[in-house]
This record gives sequence, structure tokens and C-alpha cells, in this order.
Amino acid sequence: MSDRLLAGKKVLLGVTGGIAAYKAADLASKLAQAGAQVDVIMTEAATRFVAPLTFSAVSGRAARVDMWSEPAGEAIPHVRLGTLADLAIVAPLSANTLAKLALGLADNLLSATLLACVAPLVLAPAMESHMWLNPLTQAHAEALRARGAVLVGPGSGHLASGASGVGRMAEPAEILAAARLLLAQGGPLAGRQVLVTAGGTQEPLDPVRYITNASSGKMGVALAEAARDLGGRAVLVHAPLSVALPYGVQSVPVGSAVEMRDAVLSRLAETDILIGAAAVADYRPAEVRAQKIKKEAGDLTLRLMRNPDILGEVAACRREAPRLRAVIGFAAETQDLRANAAAKLAAKQLDIIVANDVTEAGSGFGADDNRVTLLYREGGEESLPLMHKSEVARRVLEAALPLLA
Ligand SMILES: Cc1cc2nc3c(=O)[nH]c(=O)nc-3n(C[C@H](O)[C@H](O)[C@H](O)COP(=O)(O)O)c2cc1C
Repeated sequence: MSDRLLAGKKVLLGVTGGIAAYKAADLASKLAQAGAQVDVIMTEAATRFVAPLTFSAVSGRAARVDMWSEPAGEAIPHVRLGTLADLAIVAPLSANTLAKLALGLADNLLSATLLACVAPLVLAPAMESHMWLNPLTQAHAEALRARGAVLVGPGSGHLASGASGVGRMAEPAEILAAARLLLAQGGPLAGRQVLVTAGGTQEPLDPVRYITNASSGKMGVALAEAARDLGGRAVLVHAPLSVALPYGVQSVPVGSAVEMRDAVLSRLAETDILIGAAAVADYRPAEVRAQKIKKEAGDLTLRLMRNPDILGEVAACRREAPRLRAVIGFAAETQDLRANAAAKLAAKQLDIIVANDVTEAGSGFGADDNRVTLLYREGGEESLPLMHKSEVARRVLEAALPLLA
């Protein structure tokens, strides 16, 4: 699927000599699938592990190795490739090339190109633990970080030597996420904090049981990702999620509605856009037993009490949050969608409400897609067709941008 941040971007992918070079083929493929123009430069050592043909095939462009045998008409390729790139990635990054980059050496096509490159740089080191933990390697890594390079990993786990420890190359998906984060810098949400709530809150009954709902958290996660991709600082205040936490998003895990309310209100002063996408339980057990409830006691009657209304409380203290320009709520309804959503928009003094009918097939709780209608405080509404939640998320944030002016 073409990717808004990567489509059309010129990405330089450096591959050095390590076992993890085979994973770089997957990274090159993912970059190409996202619509990037991928130029692969391999070191001579890298070609001992994977053939250049593999990279040429997945990127659709000839992989390069040798500084001295460039195609006719392509004079000084290291300068051209380096200066034209929008982004450079080196994965895997060997201890040897890491040291060269830190020292400014330029003795092969990759190191010379990177020395001439002014694009943001993502580095994914991969090596044995002892090489990585060597103070020389650490000093080189620190020098590169200090110059603005983004180091992803290395992680811990099984290493090529059979040992276990730190030194594994970060997974291609994580490297890609770091690349996207760098490309997003300077987007329309640069310098803004977007706080998103997500997931279904858990309301405890006793130490091992709770009442919850069917929310997966997918919509909230998509909103946090969209905020990040528009250059914003995304904070996700979330109850347990059934999807992975996104890279580059600050996670604030909570359990109950009361915990979620406290986490949101304590961050309001720094927040520019607040999006309440969590399925917050309306009720919680009035009594939380200190010990596990025993079935021998027979039938049980639960008394429930109202939970705090988080967006209602936000409306009440909006004056104390001078940065807060947009408060966006969700209305998941099973009947009278528009009327219920419009009533909620007014009652909670929201700027935008995103209404969705959760009974509609392929939409709502747990689904990957959603069909929503945006209703605005200033009047007017916009019905969007069924679309992927990531696309819905982007449309919601774009609708909030004018409110920041
Ligand atoms: C089987 C094998 C695996 C290797 N794996 C790594 C590795 O994962 N990381 C690393 O830094 N060096 C590794 N090396 C050593 C590098 O290939 C060597 O330092 C080489 O000079 C790196 O050159 P380059 O930085 O130009 O790619 C390995 C060597 C061999 C023979």
C-alpha cells in the first residue's frame, strides 16, 4: 500500500557485512512497496552474505557496490546519491562501518556517499554483544547520535553466534517506523501535543475480575499514529489494547475510567488536541471486594455507580488549558446515530464529534474499517465512506487542523 510519508521519497539504503543483511532485503521490499525510490548501496562484505541481485530485484533499481565501476554517464555517484536522498538508512550497520561513519572515513561507495549526504540518517546496528558493548563502539554510536543520527536497536535475543544477548538488528518494521517518524518532522502538527484515549476501560469487581467492553483500541491507535505522522507529539492514554502499541507514540497505560480521567486531566495543560476514542465504561461496581468473590455465596447482585464523564470534565476545566484548541469525541451508537451524536456534541461542548453506527457490518468495534460522520460545533457535517481506520484517523486530524490556527 502506498504510504503518504514514503511515497516518492528517495531513500538510500546502505547494507553492510553481517548475517542480518538478509533482513535488509525485506526492508528494501517494504520501502519499495510504500512507494519510495530505493537506491541500495552494499559494502563488499555485505555481498558475501546476500547477492546484489536480490536488492536490485526487490527495489527495481540496480544495487551498487563499487565506487570505481559506475554506469556510463553517472560520474561521481557518491555525491549525487548522497545529496539527492531524502532519507538514508543503514541496516544492518556493522561495527566497522559504524566506526567509519563516526570518524568521517570515505573509503568505499557507502561511506563516501554517507559523508556527502545531508539527509536524515537512520542506523540499525547489528553485531555480537561484545562488539556492541565495546567502549569504542559505544563512543562511536554516541558521536553519531550527537550529530543527529537516529539509532534503532540493537535489540536483545538470539544472535548469529548462537549466543543470546544485545546486538540483534531491529526488525524491518521498527526501522521503517523510525524512518517515517523522521520524515514526519516539520509536518502540520509539529510542536503540538495530541492526546488520544483508547481501549475499553476495565472496572474491577475483585482482585481478579472486572467489567469491560468489546473495544479493541484500533481507532485510538490509528489516531495516535496519524498524529505522529503529521509531526505531532502523540500521547496515547489507553486501557488494555488488542493491537500493538505504535512506535514513536508515548504510552500511558491505565485500567479504569477513574484512572483514565486522572491521566487525561493531569496532561491537559500541555495538550493542543484531545481526542476521546476510548470506550469508557459508564458504570463501575460500587464496591470493589478486597478478596476474590466466592461462588459458594450463591447468586450475586451487583450495584453499579456512574463513572466520571471524562469529556464532560474536560469541558468544565477548559479555561485552565490554554493550549487546548480542539476536543473531539466519538459517538458509537446503535440507534438514532445523528440525533444522539448531535446531543453529545452540545452537551460535552465538543468541537467535533465522530459518529459511527457500531451495528453496521465491517465497521466499528474490532473491525479494521469504519464508516463515520463528522459533526462540527460550528454547524455542518461530513459523511465519509467506509474506509480503513488509519484513513479515518487522518481525516479526523485534518478536520482539527483549522482549529489550531
Ligand atoms: C559470518 C560472519 C558474520 C559477521 N557478522 C557481523 C555482524 O553481524 N556485525 C558486524 O559488525 N560484523 C560482522 N562480521 C564482520 C564484518 O563482516 C567485517 O567486520 C567486515 O569488515 C565489515 O565490513 P563492512 O563494514 O564494510 O560491511 C561478520 C563476519 C563474518 C565472517
